[in-house]
Amino acid sequence: MTRVAVVFNDDLRLVAGNAQDALAVQGVVSCARAVTDALRTRGHAASLHALPMERREIGAFVEALDVDVVFNLVEAIGGDARLEPAFAWACELRALAYTGSPPRAMTLCLEKPLAQAILSANGIPVPRHVVMERGDEPLGDLRLPAIVKPSREDASHGIESASVVRDETALLARVAHVLEHYAQPAIVEEFVDGREINVALLAGPNGLEVLPLSEIDYRGFPPDMPRIVSYAGKWIETSRDWALTQVVAAADLAATTRDDSSPDRIDRAASLRGARLERLRARRHAARRARRAVRDRRESESRHLAGRGLRVGGRTCGAHARGRRRAHPRLDLLNRPKRRVVAEFVLFTSP
Ligand SMILES: Nc1ncnc2c1ncn2[C@@H]1O[C@H](COP(=O)(O)OP(=O)(O)O)[C@@H](O)[C@H]1O
Ligand SMILES: [Mg+2]
Repeated sequence: MTRVAVVFNDDLRLVAGNAQDALAVQGVVSCARAVTDALRTRGHAASLHALPMERREIGAFVEALDVDVVFNLVEAIGGDARLEPAFAWACELRALAYTGSPPRAMTLCLEKPLAQAILSANGIPVPRHVVMERGDEPLGDLRLPAIVKPSREDASHGIESASVVRDETALLARVAHVLEHYAQPAIVEEFVDGREINVALLAGPNGLEVLPLSEIDYRGFPPDMPRIVSYAGKWIETSRDWALTQVVAAADLAATTRDDSSPDRIDRAASLRGARLERLRARRHAARRARRAVRDRRESESRHLAGRGLRVGGRTCGAHARGRRRAHPRLDLLNRPKRRVVAEFVLFTSP
């Protein structure tokens, strides 16, 4: 019987930003209970743990976990989502197995400009964007409409209809709102019109697995309402956004993504990973040759090969594809999976 600690952050009293942001935290609590029940039903010894809110207590808390694996549902520490990776690091320090993304992936995904830079550098188009720390930075060649978002949040925190701006006055006002309420730089992205698809790519022992695609169905939205998954649309069950934001199967796209010859964005994500995997294989090969060289006492060769880096570790990263199917679709890198946005692919393979 596997001993599993389901750990979550019970930060209800501490949430910053909009008071409604607490609903997302509440979602974590009920999710943690459901996971614990499911594990017990399957015969595992699952225990449910709320993470201490005080940072200095985290070390002792992790030290005291006497389990085989941690089911990591920690999304913030002391109400601060930017500390999300710290708990995974604490598990790493104690060499405790845990589920979910490693801390480095979380760190990257929690900074949208950083994540976009990495995607861009790997040839995946992202929306043109400007990061505003003061609120009066030049917009350069950014075209409107745009969407203004907190640059270091997830779960649609700070995203509502007013986030989509059609003129510079509205843009500057929304940037000021984000700077004031979320105490972090705002990212202003060109608005990508088109379909919004959630893609789950899981890395398993047999390579990449594309889970069934789901799509946000915006057909119920009135014409004047921006087609975005707002915070209310994700979390507030009594809201109009929630009622209008439907998730459906993206059946007609599934075949496209399985076609290797398609220039589809999903394939590009997959080939990005493929390139990394090639590098990983090359490293493993180098490692094997290095070990053989050591065994055979060919010292200079072993030094050379070992220098190519032998450390290997999986890194997962949230991704989300949105755009028209044939024209140049854009892949904008988002956060981690939430209630229904489950979109992961392996992006990095070595530290
Ligand atoms: N550049 C964009 N163009 C069009 N819609 C966008 C864009 N960026 C975000 N959105 C909409 O806003 C939602 C939330 O934005 P996202 O970047 O995913 O933030 P979060 O990390 O909080 O989930 C998306 O699901 C999408 O509907
Ligand atoms: Mg998102």
